[in-house]
Amino acid sequence: MSELINGNDISRMIREEIRIETLAFREKTGVTPGLAVVLVGADPASQIYVRRKGKACEEVGFLSREFRLSGDAKEQELLEIIRQLNGDQAINGILVQLPLPPQIRSQAIIEAIDPQKDVDGFHPVNVGRLVAGNPCHVACTPKGIIELLDRTGIAIEGKEAVIVGRSNIVGKPLAMLLLARHATITVCHTRTRNLPETTRRADILVAAAGSPEMIQGEMVKEGAVVIDVGMNRLGDGRLVGDVAFAEVAPRASHITPVPGGVGPMTIAMLLQNTLNAARR
Ligand code: GUN
Repeated sequence: MSELINGNDISRMIREEIRIETLAFREKTGVTPGLAVVLVGADPASQIYVRRKGKACEEVGFLSREFRLSGDAKEQELLEIIRQLNGDQAINGILVQLPLPPQIRSQAIIEAIDPQKDVDGFHPVNVGRLVAGNPCHVACTPKGIIELLDRTGIAIEGKEAVIVGRSNIVGKPLAMLLLARHATITVCHTRTRNLPETTRRADILVAAAGSPEMIQGEMVKEGAVVIDVGMNRLGDGRLVGDVAFAEVAPRASHITPVPGGVGPMTIAMLLQNTLNAARR
């Protein structure tokens, strides 16, 4: 049986480290790190995430500001809020919760955020710096995955890493981070021809496709490290990952559960990015 990677415990440890660092930073500079979170509409999952982010900020001693717009808000209204936050000295980090309603162009919003305050790491300046291997804000979920591997003592260098999913939020930036750590990377997606053959090569397998329990036992090499980024709500109300946990866990050396794996790390990394932004 495999070892469970406990994202709740690791996230709690990091948030406690950030709380202590924030105290010292405030003492030295008089600056309180500030994060603004913007939510458009009333998507239930997004509302939960935004509430958690605000609570996590308060626990580490950050200033937390929340902005809520109705689901029919115009792109111009959101751009105006971002313009104000870009110029607000008390705010070091800006996060616009995605997805946005269809009348708002997500890319226009992302590009309006000051790259120094882009704690999501989605702005083209940060994406470009990540690809070039220069210091930047790195997207929270992929950054959290690297942190989980490091803090579990899993070596990355020289490993075969296979990522299922090529999103801008997870798959693509994770490929760059693993590459920078000297893994050999394969990124799979819906048009990949022989998915099981490819996933079976993985020493480190990351499932980030948004497809419930798509990674089955026979797709995983004996002894692989399996990271599940999926969060899928089934018709019967159950929350499952992209990995069929019961059949994959016995083959894996390490595996993340859902919930309590990658999810809690995302918020810890958001706090870390916000503290870093305040330090610059
Ligand atoms: N929606 C799902 N994940 C994320 C994230 O990491 N950042 C933002 N802004 N929205 C998201």
